[in-house]
Amino acid sequence: MSVTRFQEFLSIQKNQFEETLYASLEKISAPKSLVEAMNYSLQAGGKRLRPLLLFATLNGFHKDPKWGLPIAVSLEMVHTYSLIHDDLPSMDDDDLRRGKPTNHKVFGEAHAILAGDALLTYSFQVLAELNHEEISPEKKMRLILELSRAAGPEGMVGGQVADLEGERKSLSLRELEYIHERKTGKLLEYSIIAGGIVADASEEQIQHLRSFAFHLGLAFQIRDDILDIEGTVEEIGKPIGSDEHNQKSTYPSVLTLEGAKEKLTQHIHQAKYALSQIPDMDSFYLEEICNLIADRKN
Ligand code: IPE
Ligand code: IPE
Ligand code: MG
Ligand code: MG
Ligand code: MG
Repeated sequence: MSVTRFQEFLSIQKNQFEETLYASLEKISAPKSLVEAMNYSLQAGGKRLRPLLLFATLNGFHKDPKWGLPIAVSLEMVHTYSLIHDDLPSMDDDDLRRGKPTNHKVFGEAHAILAGDALLTYSFQVLAELNHEEISPEKKMRLILELSRAAGPEGMVGGQVADLEGERKSLSLRELEYIHERKTGKLLEYSIIAGGIVADASEEQIQHLRSFAFHLGLAFQIRDDILDIEGTVEEIGKPIGSDEHNQKSTYPSVLTLEGAKEKLTQHIHQAKYALSQIPDMDSFYLEEICNLIADRKN
């Protein structure tokens, strides 16, 4: 099978990103056990979807994706911290992540909590230390603000709390959308908006990007809910049935499996429509990422 232009883009960007990520870890001066726990989860694999969204957005605005490398490193650190904490016994209590035992299973709960704390804090250090001629101090401040909003109480953490408080309750679709938009959508939105900020996108373009990201984020988490039922442990690298075990409301539990699949397709269509509204953008890679998310098996 021949490698398509899109597959080539993914592979080049992912390799370049992982090289930069691993190099930036070597710079950390901290207790060995802490760095080991941070490295363990960062190097366990992962699709690197958020960095790839950032690179595809930059590419769409005809900018060199390399400009986004440190931003992507900081982004993947926030995401990985959220996974370490999400798996803790007091949260989803899962034993497998990215095909490996979860961080707390290997390093113990205290070190897993602290490795998460360290990744979150270090990600802002990486962003604050960013030094690139194309990224002015004003842009850097805006990136820091957008990341804080996306990751904090108004974003991912708020969504995680609503998710926990929704356990053993039957939620409405609106309530579920509130959770998914925040616990997953906000960081995905940041990945895309960060590309727009770096590329000097207009406010109108940013608004369309936000609408694109909103639908993409919901589609991504709906697929995650579906894979928790239909996936295999080998493919998704995490336990199956975690949501049912924790009595979470999910798209399949609220809408049925068929209804969730229908909703996923609708959000992918709406995401692509939002993209088509963005003037002067080459949206080819972002559209291909939409297709990837709709069909993903892991
Ligand atoms: C998992 O995210 C957590 C969710 C937001 C559903 P990913 O599916 O992107 O996880 P990795 O990074 O590929 O492991
Ligand atoms: C949580 O969603 C997403 C975050 C980590 C913020 P899930 O709990 O469904 O994610 P998985 O399925 O464990 O990856
Ligand atoms: Mg969870
Ligand atoms: Mg979980
Ligand atoms: Mg899940």
